[in-house]
Amino acid sequence: MEWFDPAVEKAAEVLRSKGVGKPDASIILGSGLGKFAGTINDSVVVPYSELPGFPETGVAGHDGALHFGKVGNRSILAWSGRFHHYEGYPFERTVLPVQVAAALGCRAMLVTNAAGGINFRFRVGDLMLIDDIISLPVRVSPATRRFRQRYANDTLVNEVTHLAAKAGIAVTRGTYLYAKGPTYETKAEIRAFRIMGADAVGMSTAAELNEAIRLEMSCLGISLITNLATGVSKEKLDHSEIAEAASLREKDLLALITLILSDPDTPLYKPEYRFR
Ligand code: HPA
Repeated sequence: MEWFDPAVEKAAEVLRSKGVGKPDASIILGSGLGKFAGTINDSVVVPYSELPGFPETGVAGHDGALHFGKVGNRSILAWSGRFHHYEGYPFERTVLPVQVAAALGCRAMLVTNAAGGINFRFRVGDLMLIDDIISLPVRVSPATRRFRQRYANDTLVNEVTHLAAKAGIAVTRGTYLYAKGPTYETKAEIRAFRIMGADAVGMSTAAELNEAIRLEMSCLGISLITNLATGVSKEKLDHSEIAEAASLREKDLLALITLILSDPDTPLYKPEYRFR
């Protein structure tokens, strides 16, 4: 198929030769969330440096490797370390993990990230299920012009909210706004984003979700609110907050991810949630 860079098939081939099979789902682990990779059983670990087409990854808190193994009785492909557009990678590169997962036959995708809270009701440590995306003013899908960005995941988010509630995990929901970064936003930008309808802001995820949609997977984004965005609270922002917020809700987030990937009642694998 021509929707991939040739490197994608080559990377999939390398992975198959190392024992990576068809994943039930794939997950991209955001800043500070890499620990999940350690909870995968019997995992095959492949550093990105061994994968054709993969750039070096440069964000602290990640091992820059792919982990394949079991979560419950599901086969899961976890990407610890992602590529950001602000690091200089074109969007075509930032979606490589999604494409490689698809090339291996995967039909479901979870994408996690650290994000700044814009909604006044949000607190640091909140887990936000992404029910819609704003990605203006830049186009974050590498796809052809004919592709419509149409992540709108209300029903899946409803079902995951029920699943989380049954397990006693509090989640919230909202619209994720993609901002290029690498700097945090100005106060005026955050005010504008709130008026536009954004609940949280981050520098990743939109392109990956759009690519998963284009490749006809079911997909869900989850934001860990690591800080309140510029001007929402009086405190100054710095990167260490991300690590703190991640450790604050780490247990819940890991439990939530495990639930969504492997619970018998998870909606993630229902064919009706695949985009097509
Ligand atoms: N803005 C943009 N990206 C982020 C933020 C933020 O406040 N927090 C974590 N990622």
